[in-house]
Amino acid sequence: MVRETWATRVGFILAAVGSAVGLGNIWRFPFVTGQEGGSAFLLVYLLFIALIGFPAILVEFVIGRRTKLNPVGALRELGSGLWNHVGWLFVITGFVILSYYSVVAGWFLRYTLIGITDGYAAGAASPEAAGALFGSVATGLDSLLFHAIFMAIVIGIIAAGVRSGIEIAVKVMVPAIVVLLVGLAAYGFTLDASTEAYAYYLSPDFGVILENWTSILPAAAGQAFFTLSLGMGVMITYASYLGEDRNLAEDAGVIVGLDTLIAVVVGFVVFPFLFAAGLSPGDGGAGEIFVSLTVAFTEIPAGRFIGVVFFGMVGIAALSSAISILEVVTSYLIDERDLDRVPAAASIGVAIFLLGIPVTIDLVFLDLLDKFADDVLLVLGALLLSVFVGWVVPELARDELEKGIGDLGRLGTAWIWIVRIPIIAVVFISLYLGVVEYVDFLTDDFAAWLAAR
Ligand code: PHE
Repeated sequence: MVRETWATRVGFILAAVGSAVGLGNIWRFPFVTGQEGGSAFLLVYLLFIALIGFPAILVEFVIGRRTKLNPVGALRELGSGLWNHVGWLFVITGFVILSYYSVVAGWFLRYTLIGITDGYAAGAASPEAAGALFGSVATGLDSLLFHAIFMAIVIGIIAAGVRSGIEIAVKVMVPAIVVLLVGLAAYGFTLDASTEAYAYYLSPDFGVILENWTSILPAAAGQAFFTLSLGMGVMITYASYLGEDRNLAEDAGVIVGLDTLIAVVVGFVVFPFLFAAGLSPGDGGAGEIFVSLTVAFTEIPAGRFIGVVFFGMVGIAALSSAISILEVVTSYLIDERDLDRVPAAASIGVAIFLLGIPVTIDLVFLDLLDKFADDVLLVLGALLLSVFVGWVVPELARDELEKGIGDLGRLGTAWIWIVRIPIIAVVFISLYLGVVEYVDFLTDDFAAWLAAR
């Protein structure tokens, strides 16, 4: 079977942007920013994206384009010994992330529908009412149903293939996200509260950074990897469908730039909404954004319409990320197990759906999966990939990067050394902190939940 390739350069870039822009930018970014001190966090995050995120995305690109294989096969082809088995980690990570990502995406679909059929007033009478509305959406049969609908759409797109599934879908979705988002930000600008919101968001307090660096640094690193879809082979897989040798650094620049721009613009949407409703950002948690935005959407003018647009846009953004995760696992089954695309996508999609079911029953499973995937699996994946490129195959990686660019000279050397020392150091520290936090969660919250059964 001939391996598919992207039809156009734009197709590849939009697919990568579609993967990068998702719940991480719209749901996670504002609330992590809120928790970590607003503009102080923003500044550190932007530095991390440029210094760590950009070199790290190139790591995955060179592996994918060099081997033209799924992540498991790619590492097996380039490495030896233990590296033959590392790719498995990515398949497992994809499995875990998509199982709960789909449930959360389902909530956004449901909130879009609520806005269309009933409006958000039911949830705005009091914080309790908003919480009750969220509870009814997040768990139970509704949650299961929308999880199923979302996964069915994801499977459908992936089953249709690289060109006629992913590429066509992202060419519609990514521009739609940008247009809707810019419209929402313009609307946010018209709200009286916007001045206060911008001040909170845009004037960094260096004192805050110095005081809180032990929590700001790992949070910024984790967010940088998550938002760029790094650490589980998505960018390896997407780069493996590149037909010709183009300038990967340029493509990475566009992708990282767009993802960051969109995350920053999301702040211009969410913070004015929150301030307009008299709420403060960062009280955090999976449900908080739903709860506080439902209140906001009943307070601000034309809130119901704005709410539908907002939740709908997030649903689209989540979809263009979710397909990239299913594609990693599907490409593995196609390359290594000789399955056809349709049965591969369908069987694995159904298995992922089943794994997500506990999340629709009790939100403790969301934490159980999300913390494990985000703070441990993704970071471990990023660490292994950086060690691999920096220390195991640096020459080959550099040679691959230079295709389509020409001799990189010192820049090439600089790239390898950034991967070798600072990236590995930052990722290692984040992994350590992530594991500590996860063990805490298991012995604390989760143990308490089990004991209460
Ligand atoms: N980058 C996606 C987001 O911001 C999440 C994601 C992580 C997607 C890892 C694929 C792989 O929502």
